Amino acid sequence: MDKIIIEGGKTLKGEVRISGSKNATLPILAATLLTDETCVLRNVPRLLDTHTMVKLLKSLGKVVDWDKDKIIIMSNGKTNPVADYKLVSTMRGSICVLGPLLTKLGEAKVSLPGGCVIGVRPVDLHIKGVEALGARVNIDAGYIIAKSKRLKGSRVYLGGASGPSVLGTANIMMAATLADGETVIECAACEPEVEDLANFLNEMGARIKGQGSPRIVIQGVKKLHGADFKMSPDRIEAGTFVLLSAMSRSSFMIRDIDYQQLMALDDVLAKVGVSVEPDKNCVRVIPPRTLKPMSITTYPYPGFPTDLQAQYTAIMAVTNGVSVIRDTVFPDRFMHIAELNRMGARIRREGGSAIIEGVKELCGAPVVASDLRASAALVMAGLVAKGKTEIRRVYHLDRGYENIDKKLMALGASIKREKE
Ligand code: EPZ
Repeated sequence: MDKIIIEGGKTLKGEVRISGSKNATLPILAATLLTDETCVLRNVPRLLDTHTMVKLLKSLGKVVDWDKDKIIIMSNGKTNPVADYKLVSTMRGSICVLGPLLTKLGEAKVSLPGGCVIGVRPVDLHIKGVEALGARVNIDAGYIIAKSKRLKGSRVYLGGASGPSVLGTANIMMAATLADGETVIECAACEPEVEDLANFLNEMGARIKGQGSPRIVIQGVKKLHGADFKMSPDRIEAGTFVLLSAMSRSSFMIRDIDYQQLMALDDVLAKVGVSVEPDKNCVRVIPPRTLKPMSITTYPYPGFPTDLQAQYTAIMAVTNGVSVIRDTVFPDRFMHIAELNRMGARIRREGGSAIIEGVKELCGAPVVASDLRASAALVMAGLVAKGKTEIRRVYHLDRGYENIDKKLMALGASIKREKE
C-alpha cells in the first residue's frame, strides 16, 4: 500500500486538467454488456475503480483493449451472467451490471455489494425496478439472482427515503432498453452521469428521452449496436480542485471542466466570498483574503453534491466562524472529521450534521484515509497545514482521482508518494 507525504503551505499555480468522469464511466462500461458489437470509449480515467470494472467485464465475457485513455471493448463470444463477490465487494458500483446482464441474457447473478464506510448502501430500489419490469428476483447466499424471458416495459417510481438513486436509475434505464414496450422511470436521478449514460445508450440505438429530469421514458428496442463515445470531465474532481484553489488561497487554471454542472457549489462559494471566472471549458478561482463561513446541506442533483461534502468540510475547517454541514444523502458520511481533528480542526458531530468552528491554521499530522472523498479532504488539509502530513491507505484516493499527486506536484505542491 502507498502513503502520501505533503509539506503544507505552498501556493499553487499553473494549470490542471480534469480527467474523464469516474461515475459516468462505470455505468457506461456496464452498458457495453448490452451489445456483442465493439464499443470504443474515450477520455476514460485510469483509476482503481475503472480497472475493477474492466476486470469484471472480462469475467462476464468481454475482451478489453485499454490504451492510455481509450478503451475498446469486444465480445469473446461466450457470456457469463455471474458477477462474482470477489470483484463486486471491492466496488459497489459493480451493481450496475445487474440491469444489462438481465435484459441481454435473461438472467443475472450479482453479488450484493455490501456496505462501505459512508453508509449501508442498500439495493432495494434496484430490485424493485427489475421486478417492476417482470423479473423474478431472489436473494441467495449473498447474491441477487434475477431471471426473466424478456422484460416488459412498465412505469416505476424509483424514489427512496433519501430521494432518487443514481445507480438504481442507471440499472433500470439499461434494463429497459431491450424490454418489450415503454418504461417510465419516475423520481429518476438527474445527475449529469445519468445523462451521459442515456446519451451513450442512445448512441447504441436505444430510444431514451427525459434524461437529466426526474422522468425518463425508454422505448424498448430489439437490439443495440456498438458505439464510440467520449466521457465528460469529472465534475467531482473539478469541484475538488475549485475548493482546493479557494482553500489554499491559490489561483490556477482548471481545464476541461463543465462548470454549469457545479452551480450548487458556485452558489455557496459566492456566499463564502470566492469568485470563479468561467471561460469556455475552464475556470480560474479568485480566492479572497478571508473566507466567510457558510452552512450547507447536501441533496441529490442539482443540489450540493454529497461527493463534495468532505472537501467542503475541509475548507470550512480553516474558515473563521461557525458552519454546519448536513448530508441528507449519506447522513453518516463524516469519517473525515476524526482525521481532520487530528490536524487541529475543531469539528463535532451532532446527529446527521457536523458543527465546524473554523481555526486559523491546521497542523500537519499522520492520518489515515477511510474512503474516496474523505481522502481528498485530507489531501486538501495537508496542503494548507503547517508542517508535514502523512496520509496512509491512499488506495482510497486512487479509486477516484487519476494521478492526483502528480497533478498537485505540477501545480507546485510539495507532495510525494512512498510505499507504506
Ligand atoms: C452514486 O452512488 C455514486 N457512485 C456515489 O459516488 C454518490 O455519492 C451517490 O451516487 C449519490 O450521488 C457512482 O456513481 C459509482 P445512490 P449510488 O443509489 O448510486 C439510498 C463517489 O464518491 N438508496 O444514488 O450507489 C442510498 O442509501 C461515490 O464517487 C436506497 O435507499 O448512490 C443513499 O442514501 C460515493 N436504496 C441514496 O439512496 C437503493 O436501492 C442515494 O444513493 C439505492 C440507494
